[in-house]
Amino acid sequence: MVSSNIWNASLRIFRRGHIAAVFLIGAFLLLIYLLQNNADILDSYAPYPSTDTAEDYSKLKSAIKYRNPVFPEQKCKANMSVTNMKDFSSLPDAIKEFLYYRHCRKFPMLLDLPDKCGGVNKSKEVFLLLVIKSSPLNYDRREVLRKTWAKERLHNGVWIRRVFILGTTGSGEEKEKGNNLLKVEQEDFKDILQWDFNDTFHNLTLKQTLFLQWMERNCPNVRFLLNGDDDVFAHTENMVKYLQSLPDNDGSKHLFTGYLFINEKVVRWKGSKYFIPVQIQKSNAYQPYCGGGGYLLSGYTALVINRMSQSIPIHPIDDAYMGMCLSKAGLSPSSHIGVKTLGLNMPSKGEDHLKPCYLRDLLLVHRFLPIDMYLMWKQVHDPHLKCGPSQKLR
Ligand SMILES: *[C@@H]1O[C@H](CO)[C@@H](O)[C@H](O)[C@H]1NC(C)=O
Ligand SMILES: *[C@@H]1O[C@H](CO)[C@@H](O)[C@H](O)[C@H]1NC(C)=O
Ligand SMILES: *[C@@H]1O[C@H](CO)[C@@H](O)[C@H](O)[C@H]1NC(C)=O
Ligand SMILES: *[C@@H]1O[C@H](CO)[C@@H](O)[C@H](O)[C@H]1NC(C)=O
Repeated sequence: MVSSNIWNASLRIFRRGHIAAVFLIGAFLLLIYLLQNNADILDSYAPYPSTDTAEDYSKLKSAIKYRNPVFPEQKCKANMSVTNMKDFSSLPDAIKEFLYYRHCRKFPMLLDLPDKCGGVNKSKEVFLLLVIKSSPLNYDRREVLRKTWAKERLHNGVWIRRVFILGTTGSGEEKEKGNNLLKVEQEDFKDILQWDFNDTFHNLTLKQTLFLQWMERNCPNVRFLLNGDDDVFAHTENMVKYLQSLPDNDGSKHLFTGYLFINEKVVRWKGSKYFIPVQIQKSNAYQPYCGGGGYLLSGYTALVINRMSQSIPIHPIDDAYMGMCLSKAGLSPSSHIGVKTLGLNMPSKGEDHLKPCYLRDLLLVHRFLPIDMYLMWKQVHDPHLKCGPSQKLR
């Protein structure tokens, strides 16, 4: 009705020859249309609570819009103007590749699990969601994790659930093979989230942001999450014990804890895997962050990070990027002595980590081969294991 009135009005104006007026009305209608259809986009930049009171938490929850995954209409194209950056040609190939595709933040899902947490409302019944970064050909690692620390189970009265997050590897037949393997695993285990992007080291932050969007859509009420690699030993029972012992153990308060780095220097040596040129980051130090091998966070903090990340350009180092998002929200990560992962510049010490008594009191230790993982899990749970007095976890 309204638009037909406007149409009639514009016809009258048109007959009088006011073409400019018609144009203006048209532009106005188009603007209204765009605003209505992009309300989601506008919302995502809305002011955002940066403290962690219960009131802010409910504001945060009510701001969430549940929707189906966003499928990009077309493949994201390389940004060729990055080649105009100063000294672009002297950058390592992986960094060039990163810069070409840095702006691409939406990728289609190849494997999804919208009911992983039992739906939005029931997701509060998941106490600890294990979010494990894997890559398609790491089949053996996933297999051993399913049998050991990442087993889905009810422990001490609360649910532990598991997802592996992945992209694709290689191209052509190799890519096909990896995708087929994951499809078969999905049928058997229902624990795979896969997006159609190249699963490389410099795309780990992309993977993380895609996961957080998925979490907001499908599991926004999970209490806590463990975000970690597929080669760590995570003592998930100790984690549950630690999380349950917190004064606020419903996931509605800020928590982000692990192996803490403060003032970690940006690596400027081109030969390093962690090299970051000034073209990506000017400042020489990172915001405080926890090592990406494994950290624990609350559902609240995961939602906050997801919000913050929408206005922070992707950075190649995924754990440092989490620190940037926290800092923008005015939140700090904390240190947990039970998490022993290594950072950018530290060599592996290879100390006692294969001793069950060492592991018995910890939350997480980096770098295990699948065979060691299986053995150690069994030994740590051996009722006859004899160790000295336990260390306190907190
Ligand atoms: C493409 O790269 C240029 C140079 O870095 C940058 O200014 C521009 O914002 C980028 N475009 C997109 C769509 O990200
Ligand atoms: C989830 O809970 C909200 C508030 O209690 C309710 O309005 C909504 O219908 C529920 N959704 C489902 C799918 O049960
Ligand atoms: C994915 O990245 C690898 C390593 O950088 C590269 O060799 C491969 O060609 C890339 N594949 C695609 C489809 O971009
Ligand atoms: C990240 O994934 C996209 C999509 O597959 C790819 O084009 C890009 O090269 C990847 N980036 C890096 C740094 O490997």
